Amino acid sequence: MIFSPRPEFALLGRVPQAAITQTYRPATVVGMTQTALVTGATAGIGAAFARALAARGHDLVLVARDRMRLEKLATDLRGAYGSTASVLPADLTQDTGCAAVEQRLSDVDNPIGLLVNNAGIGLARAFLKNSLDDELRQLDLNVRAVLRLTHAALPPMVARGNGSVINVSSVAGFGTTAPGSTYGATKSWVTAFSESVQLSVRNSGVRVMALCPGLVRTEFHERAGLDVGDRRGAMWLDADALVATALDDLRRGRTVSVPTVRYKAIAGLLRHLPRPVINAAMIRSTRVRK
Ligand SMILES: NC(=O)c1ccc[n+]([C@@H]2O[C@H](COP(=O)([O-])OP(=O)(O)OC[C@H]3O[C@@H](n4cnc5c(N)ncnc54)[C@H](OP(=O)(O)O)[C@@H]3O)[C@@H](O)[C@H]2O)c1
Repeated sequence: MIFSPRPEFALLGRVPQAAITQTYRPATVVGMTQTALVTGATAGIGAAFARALAARGHDLVLVARDRMRLEKLATDLRGAYGSTASVLPADLTQDTGCAAVEQRLSDVDNPIGLLVNNAGIGLARAFLKNSLDDELRQLDLNVRAVLRLTHAALPPMVARGNGSVINVSSVAGFGTTAPGSTYGATKSWVTAFSESVQLSVRNSGVRVMALCPGLVRTEFHERAGLDVGDRRGAMWLDADALVATALDDLRRGRTVSVPTVRYKAIAGLLRHLPRPVINAAMIRSTRVRK
């Protein structure tokens, strides 16, 4: 079948015609329309998404708490790529912050074609060592905000018949994490949620994908209070390379994106090994502060 790539595909950059033809499915076409909204855009993986999407011709709505950092990023993106980047400062652990972003996602006159639910935090210590407030803050950001923003973004996308949501999860969500840490549980939810919601929109032309990174060089571990050394070595990923792979996987129609052969193998083991074996390995390798 011969077809002309839709304008959305042109925004993905130079994609070989053969690859486009193989992955083209009208019912699941990747809805990469003009404007992408990225949460947690001021640092790490979110900033890498913002750069990659601006480079591919998207306009951007950048969400995080730090207004000054958001504005600096928006200025840099405008200068580097000529893209329109607006800022939406919001604390996504708060109802008001989520509501402001939901309102932007529901604006049918200025549609969002791609939502990247990226903002997330980890807690370094075991469950009982954390205050309830800290646990709830992690749950609110990693789970509740992802649910709320996905729930706001999808109806206009489904009505239009295109659009995509990427939920940044983690390889940690495939197994139990270092003993007592609830971070992995939040990411298990993000992956299962994304897979389930993808099923529910499968015939609408809309895509939902979970991105499950391993260790990535960002501010994440420092913010969590984790000492991870010099962050060198083969297990550490570069955020820009991770995002490039994720956007390729979205275009290919993957529901779960795991970067690199190494992490694909680890994810496979975590998914299929008996839990007692995983738990014993986790106890041996724990870095969680007691
Ligand atoms: N780095 C890794 O090794 C790794 C591995 C697997 C998965 N992940 C996941 O990847 C995602 C991004 O993490 P990262 O490594 O890029 O972390 P990061 O460098 O610490 O960046 C986190 C971003 O989230 C924003 N943020 C934090 N709290 C927020 C809140 N309450 N409301 C709104 N925005 C908030 C931060 O900006 P402000 O402080 O300005 O709000 C920042 O832009 C997370 O979901 C994380 O769980 C990371």
